[in-house]
Amino acid sequence: MDKCALTFCVAAGVAVCAAVFWPRQQNKKAEVADGVAGLIGNTPLVRIASLSEATGCLVLGKAEFLNPGGSSKDRVALYAIEQAAQAGQLRAGGCIFEGTSGSTGISLAMVARAKGFRCHIVMPSDQAIEKSELLQRYGATVERVEPRSIVDAGNYVNVARRRAAESDGGYFVDQFENPLNFDVHYQTTAPEILGQTKGEIDAFVHGSGTGGTLAGVTWFLKQNVPGVRCFLADPQGSGLANRVNHGVLFADSEREGTRRRQQVDSLVEGVGLNRLTRNFKKLLLCGAKKTLLDGAVTVTDADAVRMSRWLMANDGLFVGSSAAINCVAALSIARSLGPGHTVVTILADSGQRHLTKFWNDDAMAKAGHETVAPESLDEFPQLL
Ligand SMILES: Cc1ncc(COP(=O)(O)O)c(C=O)c1O
Repeated sequence: MDKCALTFCVAAGVAVCAAVFWPRQQNKKAEVADGVAGLIGNTPLVRIASLSEATGCLVLGKAEFLNPGGSSKDRVALYAIEQAAQAGQLRAGGCIFEGTSGSTGISLAMVARAKGFRCHIVMPSDQAIEKSELLQRYGATVERVEPRSIVDAGNYVNVARRRAAESDGGYFVDQFENPLNFDVHYQTTAPEILGQTKGEIDAFVHGSGTGGTLAGVTWFLKQNVPGVRCFLADPQGSGLANRVNHGVLFADSEREGTRRRQQVDSLVEGVGLNRLTRNFKKLLLCGAKKTLLDGAVTVTDADAVRMSRWLMANDGLFVGSSAAINCVAALSIARSLGPGHTVVTILADSGQRHLTKFWNDDAMAKAGHETVAPESLDEFPQLL
């Protein structure tokens, strides 16, 4: 057994033991849900008819937008708040701080309300305005700050960390670096996918923001489904696909902090990064040269917009931008595997979160993107 395989097996053993001994969050929804927390998780898998019929595969989307806070981040918020309260890091009535592109903040604000905590969210000002309006409706304090690199004190994550440190006993969630993020997807999202597909899954693909979903699901599937292939779907401007395919995140001249313009120059929200987070690093193997993934594809903004319009026109699915890039990647993977395979992806949020940007045709036309659904799936490029 070579060194890489040995590293993987040892780590897999540790993770399996951890999964057995950690309490499962809530794997079965009761007939009557216990408050908002009881509505989180156990989302359905939906067959995406247009992509399935065109490829002869079963292309399935995990409908995470059906969580009560509207995204997969509800799982992370519930788990982080429960664990912090149990560990005494969060006192009754205390304040939760987080830097987020929006979705995690909304989930935290919702769970905080339900459990009697306060919430202070710092987010980049270029994210869709409906996200901060929703945060305010949930009673969170919202700070919108200019998009800055992670090495800048004004970066939204750094501001949130500072606000927590300056507060009286505030809890900083730190979704990018907090391993609870990986754990909750390993313990809930992935076993749900395994059960829903009865283990018949050939490929999984998802984007990476914090990396929690991709790493947690990939680890679990690789341990439980022999031969499953896992892929990263990356937006344009992100360095992660390059890191997965070539072992290099970026040219030195593009390191975060060396450029003045925004680092990940994409219209897609919630995914894409030019740094390795602790959650994404769970995917690194063998002296960090290789990853547990089987490959990565880069999806352009133009194709993401066209896929969102395609899914609406042909399937009645109203998805957000990260789900759109996932579906462009899932289409390519299904085509390359050939008929008879099952490809699973994540529909992290709905188009309702993106009405003023990604789903605003005028804004997209101004950015030079075609907003009419393509005539055929043949118009999408083969990415691998
Ligand atoms: C809409 C959306 N999709 C996907 C992701 C990526 O998930 P993860 O942070 O687990 O990598 C995020 C993260 O914020 C998101 O907001």
